[in-house]
Amino acid sequence: MTTKVQVHDFWNEASCGENLYLSTTDKAGYVAQSTERYRLEPFIPTFADFESAKDKKVLEIGVGLGADHQRFAEAGADLYGIDLTERAVEHTAQRLKLFGLSSRLTVGDAENLGFDNQSFDWVYSWGVLHHSPDTPRAIQEVFRVLKRGGVAKVMIYHKWSMVGVMLWLRYALLAGKPWRSLRSVYAEHLESPGTKAYSIAEARQLFADFVDVQISTPLGHGDLLESDVGQRHRGLMLRWVKKFWPRWFIRRFLTGTGLFMMVEARKS
Ligand SMILES: C[S@@+](CC[C@H](N)C(=O)[O-])C[C@H]1O[C@@H](n2cnc3c(N)ncnc32)[C@H](O)[C@@H]1O
Repeated sequence: MTTKVQVHDFWNEASCGENLYLSTTDKAGYVAQSTERYRLEPFIPTFADFESAKDKKVLEIGVGLGADHQRFAEAGADLYGIDLTERAVEHTAQRLKLFGLSSRLTVGDAENLGFDNQSFDWVYSWGVLHHSPDTPRAIQEVFRVLKRGGVAKVMIYHKWSMVGVMLWLRYALLAGKPWRSLRSVYAEHLESPGTKAYSIAEARQLFADFVDVQISTPLGHGDLLESDVGQRHRGLMLRWVKKFWPRWFIRRFLTGTGLFMMVEARKS
């Protein structure tokens, strides 16, 4: 059983994308990191719909390096942000300061949000809640702090993804352990220990208290091996696989097998 301390320590070593995309912690460094983020993950701005956050009370859970948080602040949201790690909160605070923006940022835990019931119009969280040991509890917390009519915009990982296939080939089949489950491969080889991924049906269960639940799982740069796929995965074999990865076939026949599962849902 993964502990929250393990999750904290993993992400406090380096925030998400820090080693790959953040070369300096000045304005230019953060701009370059954002540019690369939205080039690789172009569906984020559409999903987050930053501009519509103007005058809305918004909580972001798991701010990381703060690129999305900056966009919410620029849009004029009444903004709050938390992250489990001091490092992410420091990065995001530094980033906002450099751009003359503000937010109420604190170290905090998605499973125990320090906010009253029905506080927010929007709760946004990109790639975070699947890292927390008790994901269902974190989603209940999202529900609790949303106002009636409020909207959750949450990205969690999708189990039936090309990234999952690759991890399974590498750490189960090629490791001579074809009986290994996808669950254990995600937990031990994708980012922080205990990382989880969900089927669409499981995600619907997680968001069962919500209404108007919309889910999409587009192919991303990791599924298509179009980038440095993560801070844990580098090396010769990956470079070789990248050359031969059947991107055309995947785009044509396996749409919907993306790792990123975007869930938008409303509290009635
Ligand atoms: C993959 S990063 C994503 C960061 C950012 N949202 C992004 O897209 O770059 C995961 C983040 O979730 C944070 N996190 C993990 N568990 C958390 C929890 N229980 N409460 C708050 N933040 C958590 C980590 O500290 C880390 O910054």
